Amino acid sequence: MLSSISLKAPAKINLYLEITGNRPDGYHDLVMVLQSINLSDRIDIKMTGTDQIYIHCVHPEVPTDQTNLAYKAAKLLQNLYPNFGGVEITITKNIPIGAGLAGGSTNGAAVLVGIDRLWDLGLTQGELRELAAQLGSDVPFCISGGTVLAVGRGELLSPLPALENLALVICKPRKLGISTVWAYQTFRSQGLLANKNPHSHSSQMLAAIATRDESSHPQIAKLLYNDLERVVLPAYPEIAELRQHLQNQESLGILMSGSGSTVFAIARNLESAQRIAESISPDNIDVWVTTTSIHGIQEWEA
Ligand code: C5P
Repeated sequence: MLSSISLKAPAKINLYLEITGNRPDGYHDLVMVLQSINLSDRIDIKMTGTDQIYIHCVHPEVPTDQTNLAYKAAKLLQNLYPNFGGVEITITKNIPIGAGLAGGSTNGAAVLVGIDRLWDLGLTQGELRELAAQLGSDVPFCISGGTVLAVGRGELLSPLPALENLALVICKPRKLGISTVWAYQTFRSQGLLANKNPHSHSSQMLAAIATRDESSHPQIAKLLYNDLERVVLPAYPEIAELRQHLQNQESLGILMSGSGSTVFAIARNLESAQRIAESISPDNIDVWVTTTSIHGIQEWEA
């Protein structure tokens, strides 16, 4: 049996997020297109001689207690398989926090995948996804990643043709994180569901992705859509300004990811993405140039 394992846990962006219903459990019915990207955290997991679960992370905003999704994932498996003892988990953060990039969810997914391998549990992808759904709506997607249609709470997944090598500029106002709970609650309390946005169009987005070739990239970029922009942009002018700045560049399309505060642009190619990134003042905005990824959680290759 292995005594330690290291994993790569990629972030995601939403290419499409439409809120289609208020659920009685307080959640919302969604139609989303989720996309993994090549911006990842590293998760190292070691067996311990005790029953304790330890989380280490030097990032000041990442909790190392029982509220961390990585802890919750380990606890969930320890409760189901109590004979293996505890684990020590080290999180090396590259994905920003409170960004709408599923940073916490992908860490939880990596711990499920990592402990499954460490303890040789032989869980299927379906079993891992079921456990993941108990941790959060985006965690099942993070297990296998790629390009995926997610409905229900976000946990009912259908794979889509993979979007490879789409060039991206990811921008996040450094000091600004947005609460996902706040964004959804505000959407509900403002009655925005009744006031349906005529621009929602999931079937067109799915058709563009189904084209399966790079000529569809400008069309996909034009069809980017996120209902949560309707509450977040009016409340946070700095995000609206960043969006506007990206719009004025050579971007093919721009969108806020999840509940923000990240805004991303799709670019024609990496050179164009680099030029767009250089146009952003570095003072208070973190910027990454990256591409879409076809992978979910993978073992870290040295
Ligand atoms: O599932 P997760 O804990 O990641 O969701 C965080 C918050 O986002 C929920 O507490 C809820 O307020 C909101 N949410 C929602 N509908 C969804 C997914 C998330 O209202 N489908």
